[in-house]
Amino acid sequence: MNIKCLIGTIIEFCWNNVITFVPSRKVRCFFAHVCFAKFGKNCFLGIGFKVKAPWKVHLGDRVALNSGVFIDGRGGLTICSDTDIATGTLIWTMGHDPHSAGNPSYTSQKMIGKNCWIGACSQILVGADVEDFAVVGAGAIVTKTVGHGEIWVGNPAKKIANRRCTEHYQLDYRPFLK
Ligand SMILES: CC(C)(COP(=O)(O)OP(=O)(O)OC[C@H]1O[C@@H](n2cnc3c(N)ncnc32)[C@H](O)[C@@H]1OP(=O)(O)O)[C@@H](O)C(=O)NCCC(=O)NCCS
Repeated sequence: MNIKCLIGTIIEFCWNNVITFVPSRKVRCFFAHVCFAKFGKNCFLGIGFKVKAPWKVHLGDRVALNSGVFIDGRGGLTICSDTDIATGTLIWTMGHDPHSAGNPSYTSQKMIGKNCWIGACSQILVGADVEDFAVVGAGAIVTKTVGHGEIWVGNPAKKIANRRCTEHYQLDYRPFLK
């Protein structure tokens, strides 16, 4: 294991097993400023939020990543401002090719737009983006890109509607003891 890989493993271990459980949002955010490629203003990181390769994750301002969310930065991940990602959601930027011998892995950069709402316990798989103002329903498995202002639900997720309001808004999510 080379030195970069070792440092990365230690950062991930410390975040996912210690820092994320510190019962102070300020402390968690302080370490996020150190570990993330970009950590915008007034982001919310819930207790138990987990991440892979935080040094490849760019967060805009006021992004809310609730308790139990997992994000995978290995392929490079950007989450734009005022996007709310609900409890238990998993966002992947790495996968395996099921058709090749040896289960080889591949990565893909992912972009989650601004003012999106990703419902609880959904999964955004490698290769799928979520464009500005989109909504993903609770429990959805997203395999393809969700278009601007669209609402997708189900497994595999499909479009059911357009969001009626697509005006820019700012999140101000600072719940007590979370
Ligand atoms: C996606 C969502 C925003 C849609 O809300 P809506 O526009 O008010 O939609 P409706 O409730 O009118 O539902 C429209 C249709 O989609 C279906 N549907 C809604 N949400 C669904 C979901 N998550 N999965 C599967 N189907 C869903 C409804 O059953 C309905 O189907 P029908 O037309 O056959 O009756 C909402 O249902 C949802 O999943 N919200 C996330 C909740 C959440 O995660 N909360 C915790 C964090 S705050």
